[in-house]
Amino acid sequence: MTIDLEHVKNVGIGAAYGSAEILRNHFGGLTTIQKKGPEDLVTAADIESERHIVDAIRARFPDHDIYAEESREKHHMDSDFKWIIDPLDGTTNYAHQVPIFSVSIAFSVSGEIRVGIVLQPMTGELFVAVKNKGAWLNGRPISVSEGQRLSEALLVTGFPYDVKTNSRPYMARFEKMLNAARGIRRLGSAAVDLCYVACGRFEGFWEEHLQPWDTAAGVLIAEEAGAKITDFSGDAYTIDKPEILATNHHVHDEMRTILNE
Ligand code: IPD
Ligand code: CA
Ligand code: CA
Repeated sequence: MTIDLEHVKNVGIGAAYGSAEILRNHFGGLTTIQKKGPEDLVTAADIESERHIVDAIRARFPDHDIYAEESREKHHMDSDFKWIIDPLDGTTNYAHQVPIFSVSIAFSVSGEIRVGIVLQPMTGELFVAVKNKGAWLNGRPISVSEGQRLSEALLVTGFPYDVKTNSRPYMARFEKMLNAARGIRRLGSAAVDLCYVACGRFEGFWEEHLQPWDTAAGVLIAEEAGAKITDFSGDAYTIDKPEILATNHHVHDEMRTILNE
């Protein structure tokens, strides 16, 4: 089964730029914000962004599978070619007019992610990766940081939507990491977190209960930039797993030990 990944990449990038424009146009102007769960928001911007991406893909690849956050299985075509989309990663930031959010588009063949695209509409930073070809930020190759020590590392994490009812394990890990690392950030977009590991801004990222659309593109971008990505037990990460640990390799074992204490 062959497909021109350059063409796939270009269609994905075009769709992401279209969505970025939609998101910028709605930014700061939303009148209604709905709740999918107590802390899980969805806005007209999520929906419009997703519709734009789905239409752009459908126009070029009518028989591909599309798995997108807001419509889930609606575009299931039983194809080996599958697009995995988060039309707005960082909706809580977006709803509060914090300009840290992204559009995340991944393309997989028989379950293997081959293309990853993450675009930050407010900064214009475009992260792209193609399997076995590398990862780029606005066209320049990127790689993970050389930082060797956790004590000098800047980390990033996120808290799942059940943190209020089940805070203990998350807080215990957070506190231990806080003591071990130079600092921790919580940006609010898992796709951006992974891209920032990829380009060396963070040494490590961990989070629980993310969804496939949160990580599919960012994982390939980070891996192609040299990151190590596993679950908390050290086994290979796949996008359906409930835990992710992505690092520059050097701090991986130290972080994994803390996560398992
Ligand atoms: C969220 C972001 C956030 C993470 C949440 C995700 P959404 O995605 O990636 O960083 O902590 O768990 O659900 O809901 O803004 O697309
Ligand atoms: Ca998301
Ligand atoms: Ca989303």
